[in-house]
Amino acid sequence: MAIHLLPNRWILETRNSGYAFGLNDAGLLAHSYWGQRLAYASDYPAPPSPAMWAAFNGPAHLTPEEYPGYGGTKYIEPCLKVTFADGVRDVVLKFIAAEAAGQDDMQLQVHLEDEHYPLRVTLHYRAHEAYDLIERWVSIQNKGHEPVTLERVWSAQWHLPYGDHYWLTHLTGRWLDEMHLRHEPLVQGVKVLESRRLTTSHHHSPWFAVDDGTADEDQGAVWYGTLAWSGNWKTAAEVTDFMSTRVNIGINDFDFAWTLKAGETFVTPASFGGYTSAGFGAASRALHDFIRERILPNGDRPRKILYNSWEATYFDVDEPSQIQLAQIAAQMGVELFVMDDGWFHRRNLDNAGLGDWWPDAAKFPHGLKPLIEAVNRLGMDFGLWIEPEMVNPDSELYRLHPDWVIHFPTRARTEARGQLILNLARREVQDYLIAQLDRLLTENAISFIKWDMNRNVSEPGWADAPGDPRELWVRYVYGLYHVWETLRQRHPHVIWQSCSGGGGRADLGILRLADQIWVSDNTYSTSRLSIQEGFSSIFPANTMEAWVTDADPQIGSPESLRFRFHVSMCGALGIGGHLIRWSEAERAEAASLIAQYKTIRHVVQSGDLYRLRSAQKHALSALQYVSKDRSESVVFCFRTMMPQPAQLPRLYLRGLEPAACYQDAATGETRSGSAWMHVGLELTLGNFDSQIIHLRRTEN
Ligand code: DGJ
Repeated sequence: MAIHLLPNRWILETRNSGYAFGLNDAGLLAHSYWGQRLAYASDYPAPPSPAMWAAFNGPAHLTPEEYPGYGGTKYIEPCLKVTFADGVRDVVLKFIAAEAAGQDDMQLQVHLEDEHYPLRVTLHYRAHEAYDLIERWVSIQNKGHEPVTLERVWSAQWHLPYGDHYWLTHLTGRWLDEMHLRHEPLVQGVKVLESRRLTTSHHHSPWFAVDDGTADEDQGAVWYGTLAWSGNWKTAAEVTDFMSTRVNIGINDFDFAWTLKAGETFVTPASFGGYTSAGFGAASRALHDFIRERILPNGDRPRKILYNSWEATYFDVDEPSQIQLAQIAAQMGVELFVMDDGWFHRRNLDNAGLGDWWPDAAKFPHGLKPLIEAVNRLGMDFGLWIEPEMVNPDSELYRLHPDWVIHFPTRARTEARGQLILNLARREVQDYLIAQLDRLLTENAISFIKWDMNRNVSEPGWADAPGDPRELWVRYVYGLYHVWETLRQRHPHVIWQSCSGGGGRADLGILRLADQIWVSDNTYSTSRLSIQEGFSSIFPANTMEAWVTDADPQIGSPESLRFRFHVSMCGALGIGGHLIRWSEAERAEAASLIAQYKTIRHVVQSGDLYRLRSAQKHALSALQYVSKDRSESVVFCFRTMMPQPAQLPRLYLRGLEPAACYQDAATGETRSGSAWMHVGLELTLGNFDSQIIHLRRTEN
């Protein structure tokens, strides 16, 4: 059983990990263990009951509480901060009861209540056994008659084993340059990473991995976690002066407030935390499996090879030019043709049209149907770009409803890319978008939607908000989820892509709605190698949309078409080049690479990923996918610029069945799994060269 309820102690177990907490002598809910699963429930340590350290550091400060409220003499980062109606800003939580609820989907609920005010805090836990993940979220119920103001309400505080020094791995970046892995020591104090941009953001990801500085891809204890939320978030990794390390994660409390009226409940987004003794690679694989099998709506469906018109035609789309591109794409073996920005009412540049989601009459005089039918006749599905959350001041929608945008009445409305953000917290905005997009999807045979969002927030005002206007940060995300979910329910056959100027909205919250993510607007293939590696720390390859474009040749960069394809074949392959300008030879080469991708797609998209050599660290990088039944494996090797003469390191494969024999599909070379893994292979790659090795298990 995954959940053990002992007297005043609770243990959650997954296949390989254990997590325990309980009531200590002072009655505080204290964390006691997170690590390797232990043999018996009695092995898990008792909750600590620390003594005070002079007058300055009382027991409450020293106790690793599961969910500390702000109050008393605790000076650590609390998870919960509230102001009661009488102005009291001190929370004193007492244990009330705990129970296991549910059948197949069993969860542990631990109920706490303020000792004076009728405020109930329920900690929810679920053990995802097969994935070694613990899910945590919190609900706060106002059981009284007066409102309570929530000022911070995080999803979890994750405690690391006490007494060690740790390193934090996280992701940083910016638009066009996302997902750089950073590995830095955690020292006394608080390391904060966050988004204040209304979306998850290009800059940091709500994901952390912590180790003692000795873990690598293949070995070592790693504790990691993430948050299923697509708005402002925060992680605060704190090392106290008493050698206690904890990572808090949740909705960002910056500029946040929530009025919890009598009888209401606030529910936080879920945080998922995992432990592995097998390094960063195993941590990623656990998340990949979990996302594919438990988060994604269509995690097991192969992602189609798509063509996207953006980098070819930009806003200059019309029926003939798109049909011409579609014809070439179809000949090359593309399965899904996606028309990007520029197709709707008066959208000729980025300064007009957003909000008016009907086809531009000059570009598409007979609507989208003729194009869609042509695409379907060519044997492809049709997909379309939209940016529902935005409006240009030069649009019919804005002229009708200028009050629908996020703004402060006394401030200028800062435009970015010529656009403003619709306040999706407002019901009428949600209803408008649902009606417009529902019509678009009902009237046209659209199989794929690319949902974009091309700016961050400014002047976050909501003048006529029914409650505290700072609820905007959360209610906007609820509104977004509501619109998207309603459309998904009404059009269940549609596949969705989450894009926000590339990877600005990549998180487990959006992946409950979106099937795949546009990882970056940077399509230079060597940059992409790095960005994709960072992305793979969290997300599986079937969510990683990767296009082959003309970006490299346009700046005279030496990467061949084959190299560029190989980079994109590491994920859900797409093409975004100007096919009309591609030579016959290039199209033929592309067709053969697309055909090759179709033979390896199932391994890439559904297999286990092993990062053999980091592209963020090395000019020679490699990654390997292994099918779940270990009958096939695909290895991608890339060499960027290395000064000559270069001695290439051997590559040691991973994840194969040691005693089984595997044959290289290209050369016929057959070796045992153990030989591929331990003798390794020598590569003969020149600068900007790449190679795919496809191994299949043969009879011994
Ligand atoms: C940003 C996206 O990331 C691009 O792929 C493209 O869709 C443009 N927006 C269109 O405006």
